[in-house]
Amino acid sequence: MSDTQPTRRAFVRTVAAAGGGATLTAFLAACSGDGGGTTAETPTPFELAAAQVPVGGGVVLAEHRAVVTQPSDGEFHAFIAICTHKQCPLSSVEQRGAYCACHSSYFDITTGSPVAGPAQIALPELPVKVSGDTLHIG
Ligand code: FES
Repeated sequence: MSDTQPTRRAFVRTVAAAGGGATLTAFLAACSGDGGGTTAETPTPFELAAAQVPVGGGVVLAEHRAVVTQPSDGEFHAFIAICTHKQCPLSSVEQRGAYCACHSSYFDITTGSPVAGPAQIALPELPVKVSGDTLHIG
């Protein structure tokens, strides 16, 4: 970067010196994260029948902002279903993984790690407890 280009630090100093605290706060909030969108909050705990989760796949539960997966028979995982790229809600679970249609990112259904597309950060995992045929998530 050349000396003539403004840096973030110089911008912050200038705004702070001008008494622009609110502007600075808004600027810093917009610059946080990799997409500048909303932060994924932890969903309220919920229950789900295990039979609703296909083996080798999963289900996106938009109402709970969660994706629940079953990579192998009896192995369940749950993740926050908000894409870590630019915070779009995940669309579905497909053969390549949990899918975000906004920019075509896929996430591994066992680990939540990104496997394709622009996302670089894993989906946050939610705790899953199995009680008989019921999953307790969150
Ligand atoms: S927001 Fe999901 S891939 Fe961009």
